[in-house]
Amino acid sequence: MNDAEIFIVGANGQLGTALKAKYPGAQSADIDEMDITKAESVANYDWSGIKYILNAAAYTNVDGAETDEGRVAAWKVNATAVSYLVQAAAANDITVVHISTDYVFDGTQDPHTEDEPLSPLGVYAQTKAAGDLVVGLAPKHYLLRTSWVIGEGKNFVRTMLELGKKGTSPTVVSDQVGRLTFTSELVKAIDHLLTTQAEFGTYNVSNGGDPASWADITREIFKAAGFDLTVTDITTAEYYKDKAGIAHRPLKSTLDLSKIQATGFTPTDWRQDLTAYIKKELSA
Ligand SMILES: NC(=O)c1ccc[n+]([C@@H]2O[C@H](COP(=O)([O-])OP(=O)(O)OC[C@H]3O[C@@H](n4cnc5c(N)ncnc54)[C@H](OP(=O)(O)O)[C@@H]3O)[C@@H](O)[C@H]2O)c1
Repeated sequence: MNDAEIFIVGANGQLGTALKAKYPGAQSADIDEMDITKAESVANYDWSGIKYILNAAAYTNVDGAETDEGRVAAWKVNATAVSYLVQAAAANDITVVHISTDYVFDGTQDPHTEDEPLSPLGVYAQTKAAGDLVVGLAPKHYLLRTSWVIGEGKNFVRTMLELGKKGTSPTVVSDQVGRLTFTSELVKAIDHLLTTQAEFGTYNVSNGGDPASWADITREIFKAAGFDLTVTDITTAEYYKDKAGIAHRPLKSTLDLSKIQATGFTPTDWRQDLTAYIKKELSA
């Protein structure tokens, strides 16, 4: 696989940044260079020589999508724009790699398998589920469902590290359970599927290791960072009880990884990547 055959969409986000680092010779664009919600900017692009579109673009503000403006924006980026990319891919014999989420499920099945029926709870989740259906129509596609992404950008680990540095002992939800997915892991999985030419279709991808709640993950973060702080458990319902405009969140986010493991991919334990991530963050 040659980097020059790759086009990275949404290149400045957490995943986009990691993909650019992995494939330095790839073409890439974020919203300023190519707004994928504009049909003509996707259709009129010169796709010659491109064999892979890696779509890291998304509207990812889960609560923002519950607002009147956010709902429209989320549908545009997460569903309508995906149909433009799929059309361009189909017309130019390009393989599409698209990223989805455990939020397309209501969080009752544990763990989530690739063939679980869609049951999204909130607006963001519904738009992502629509994107999944659209990507499924691309003749050559990898639809990767992931959870709790951590990379270069605003994310849970960074938020907790900031609280820890200020000496804050936080109250954190303890009834949402899943696994972190470092962008390094997601990039490894994408590269694995492309280079091994795995069968097209849907794959779950997250780090491996024992699933944990956000509260337990916070304890791991504080331990790795050397912060002597207390984390108090709270239920999701209690945490959000006085807050308006909050999206419903699935409680069980763990993804079953056996399908991608069967292709020869070995997930890295999330605790191992977390330790390395925190070391890097604290030395920056
Ligand atoms: N973050 C998570 O915890 C999580 C969990 C499960 C799945 N996922 C999925 O994983 C993927 C990557 O997530 P991420 O955390 O890397 O997201 P992210 O950091 O929010 O990055 C998304 C990128 O897409 C860009 N974008 C937005 N609208 C666009 C448009 N119209 N045209 C082109 N680019 C546009 C954004 O630009 P602006 O910043 O300028 O808007 C941003 O650079 C997404 O599909 C997401 O749904 C994420």
